[in-house]
Amino acid sequence: MSAVIIDGKMLANKIKEELKNEVSELKNKGIKPCLAVLLVGENKASQKYVSYKEKACNELGIESQVYKLPENTNESVLTNIINELNENPKVNGILVQLPLPRHLAEQRVLQKIDPFKDVDGFTPYCLGRLLIDNPLFIPCTPKGVLRMIDEYKITLEGKNAVVIGRSIIVGKPLSLILLRRNATVTICHSKTKEIQEITKKADILCVAIGKERFIKASMVKEGAVVIDIGINVTASGKVVGDVDFDAVKEKASYITPVPGGVGPMTIAMLMENTIYAAKLQRGLL
Ligand code: GUN
Repeated sequence: MSAVIIDGKMLANKIKEELKNEVSELKNKGIKPCLAVLLVGENKASQKYVSYKEKACNELGIESQVYKLPENTNESVLTNIINELNENPKVNGILVQLPLPRHLAEQRVLQKIDPFKDVDGFTPYCLGRLLIDNPLFIPCTPKGVLRMIDEYKITLEGKNAVVIGRSIIVGKPLSLILLRRNATVTICHSKTKEIQEITKKADILCVAIGKERFIKASMVKEGAVVIDIGINVTASGKVVGDVDFDAVKEKASYITPVPGGVGPMTIAMLMENTIYAAKLQRGLL
């Protein structure tokens, strides 16, 4: 039997509608949430993602400030802007679009963000709070994955969850939040041996490695839940995930498509985190 397709786009639209109402209510209290986005360089994918973030802010009535900086921006220029945004009470959320150009030390830059404005949840403070089971901001993509799982009433407790990828943006925080929900979590990465032996045991398989159609049907257990976090552009220009969708959907019980799966949820969660930041900073929580 073919899997249930988890409709991330529809769920993200539903969440954004609810958030739009919340923004209106905040406006009645004199509060207009504001997100600052810093984009350095000319990375085409990053430009696209930032434009989606800007558009979502506009739809919801959140103010967005986008700082487009040249490729050769030096670290002190970037950190000066971050410091100003940290100090500006009108700005509730600060996001540095990744990847940064190679000459910039990503971790050193991210650490300059005020953790209470860190709507991406990438600062050591926010990641540390997630690690000690007292999260402040949860990174948007893992948070979106969990929301989809919950919306479709998929239980995690006692399940074998396999996460492929160990990035700070996705793999590590996703593993932590699945663990917090009592899944038994295995993390695989580029040096993992016999990866198919591990993926075949997964009840929940989350894939974030950035290799087009890497997960084949033979690597998936019958009835597994498959969450595809990859976004790849094929040689012919088609957007595909890390999972061989057409074949795997015949074996899985639930599967997320690409596009229209995790991607729109990431944006919805960023909006949620920005509103949360505004409420937090105005003493409403
Ligand atoms: N690059 C890829 N994903 C993300 C994300 O969630 N946030 C930021 N800031 N950069 C990214």
